[in-house]
Amino acid sequence: MPAPTSPSAAGLEGVVVGSSSICFIDGREGRLLYRGYDINDLVEHSTFEEVVFLLWHCRLPGKKELAEHERTLAASRKLPGKVLALLKGFPHKATPTEVLRTTVSALALYDSDAENNSPEASVRKAMRLTGQLATIVAAWARIRAGKTPLAPNARLSAAANFLYMLHGKKPDPLWIKTFDIALVLHADHELNASTFSARVTASTLSDLHSAITSAVGTLKGPLHGGANEAVVRTLQEIGEPARAEVWIKNALAQKRRIMGFGHRVYKTEDPRAAHLRRMAEALGRQAGDLKWYEILRTIERVVREEKGLYPNVDLYSGTCYYAMGIPPDLYVPIFAVSRISGWTAHVLEQHADNRLIRPRADYLGPTRLRYVSIDERK
Ligand code: SDX
Repeated sequence: MPAPTSPSAAGLEGVVVGSSSICFIDGREGRLLYRGYDINDLVEHSTFEEVVFLLWHCRLPGKKELAEHERTLAASRKLPGKVLALLKGFPHKATPTEVLRTTVSALALYDSDAENNSPEASVRKAMRLTGQLATIVAAWARIRAGKTPLAPNARLSAAANFLYMLHGKKPDPLWIKTFDIALVLHADHELNASTFSARVTASTLSDLHSAITSAVGTLKGPLHGGANEAVVRTLQEIGEPARAEVWIKNALAQKRRIMGFGHRVYKTEDPRAAHLRRMAEALGRQAGDLKWYEILRTIERVVREEKGLYPNVDLYSGTCYYAMGIPPDLYVPIFAVSRISGWTAHVLEQHADNRLIRPRADYLGPTRLRYVSIDERK
């Protein structure tokens, strides 16, 4: 019987599987850094486009570099005509996440760099995917509603362009600021399940589109992506602040998982939640409707008191998106619209210093069984 290699941890909890210089999380202190910069500083001073540069190139850009980077990203949003035609042919019952997973894979067939894993080609592909994922999500939202998809507007920022492509009108300035901050907050998060999935795929020297397809498929699971959509469904079910306390106490009594709470790494509040909570309140005040914000504050208090759990990034993000007229089943794809920047940064890093990721398992089954021929079996 092979000797156990090391004490295995369920779900690789607490297991360090490699090194990276992209993102640092201090789970005890609730700190999140991208390439050494605190997320709080990036939220206050940066933009999604600048964070994308930081994640890919390991430093903040100079003024000219940033302008060129923004121009190239904006010019990379267009979908190949054949891919747009494919989107138009999908069954309207397909979920936006299934459509995203399928379309990312299809994009490779029309990308001349698809099989080229050189750093230069990978950055070109990362630019295109970072631009195109937003276009896919907005286009599908319109196609399934029987509307014409809108061409991306290269004069708008990533946040403004997405909201424009979705709603077909010039977005509200508070919505643009909020969505840009949400994109910054979701850009990377070390070796979360979908990023790890992308790195495992890249470690076989497979291509970037395959790694991103793996990542989207991994994000689809409700324990990773989808929690913010589930939070909005809960808020729709609760309806009024006065019903929040009873609802959450019943849910906890039934031992239900409360979406938007808990985290494998954070053992205090997820630093991203504080920004999303603030923006949910600002959007609620702008709309003159703080009901959902008040329900969430009550749920937060009770879950903290009764389970000692803190909010994660998903508790308030859905409320922000809903306030901007974005349907709940787009929230997982929107997570990908931001995380594509982190996923691609990790694939670049994996390819730059690669070793096939191939762990071992502690074998638990029988050994040395004698083969019994079918005639001897009942
Ligand atoms: C994301 O990893 C990342 O970085 C992910 C992410 C990113 O940016 O990429 O941060 C994004 O995925 C955020 C998480 C979104 N998911 C949810 O909000 C789903 C609800 N949360 C949980 O399912 C849970 O907290 C996880 C999956 C996030 C983490 O779970 P762990 O580390 O596997 O912990 P666990 O399931 O072993 O729970 C430990 C204890 C258990 O209690 P006991 O059974 O030991 O008594 O805490 C309880 C759990 O029951 N618990 C919860 C809970 N989360 C943990 N109880 C109720 N509701 C919860 N949400």
